[in-house]
Amino acid sequence: MSARALLAVRDLRVLIGGRHILHGVGLEVAAHGVTALLGRNGAGKTTTVRGVLGLVPRSGSVLLDGEETVALPTHAVVRRGVGYAPEDRGIFAGLTVAENLRLAERRGAGDPDYPLVHELFPELKQRARQLAGTLSGGQQQMVAIGRTLLNANRLIIADEPTKGLAPKVVTEVAQVLERAAEAVPVLLVEQNLAVVRRLAEHCVVLADGRTAYRGPADELLGDAEAARRLLGVGHGPATEAPFVEADS
Ligand SMILES: Nc1ncnc2c1ncn2[C@@H]1O[C@H](COP(=O)(O)OP(=O)(O)OP(=O)(O)O)[C@@H](O)[C@H]1O
Ligand SMILES: [Mg+2]
Repeated sequence: MSARALLAVRDLRVLIGGRHILHGVGLEVAAHGVTALLGRNGAGKTTTVRGVLGLVPRSGSVLLDGEETVALPTHAVVRRGVGYAPEDRGIFAGLTVAENLRLAERRGAGDPDYPLVHELFPELKQRARQLAGTLSGGQQQMVAIGRTLLNANRLIIADEPTKGLAPKVVTEVAQVLERAAEAVPVLLVEQNLAVVRRLAEHCVVLADGRTAYRGPADELLGDAEAARRLLGVGHGPATEAPFVEADS
């Protein structure tokens, strides 16, 4: 995958408040489809994506389509075509759905692709005038993902988009990510192994701020012992019940 990786992170280190959070993370995001970023709670997944975006002080190398971005400020990384749906969704509760989307429009990035967003999320069109704070968790996630699809991004990073959602909504969000990934490669932080199994070809597992595994997702999920050791899944990969939250 190396030659064609859209994002190549090498030896990413993050130091916050005198504490080393990442000790040298390496990962690659394929130029197509979904790459999953996995690991137990506190392993450093969110810090890794925040490091890629320049939201925390970092060192190492972050190549975006071959260009070194590790010294760039966040707005410059974003302008190069990185869309981010953060762990807390980053929704403005007091604004409407339409206003939340409008705020995400990036100047100089061409016409915002509302047709795509409305095709993938017809509900957002129907609820355009609804205050985002009154949406369900799943609908808020749709706004968060929709915002990343508005601009002509080269990479979408979604941090645990299915977390805390009801199983039916997990399925909906997973379907949307699957479709989004047909257009734009996705780095997906995810704890639900059924979602990973369905969407991701490649995966990276972090443990204690380091990369502990990188390789084909089906290889990891097919190896109950490795999944248990790396992900803390007590009973092997969650194969039986698609889109039911895996233990985390
Ligand atoms: N701003 C910060 N200041 C101090 N410590 C932090 C900060 N951000 C993260 N940490 C610590 O760094 C470690 C990694 O956190 P991070 O949020 O990256 O993990 P994660 O893999 O995303 O976990 P989760 O599955 O719970 O979302 C944790 O021990 C966390 O407490
Ligand atoms: Mg996290």
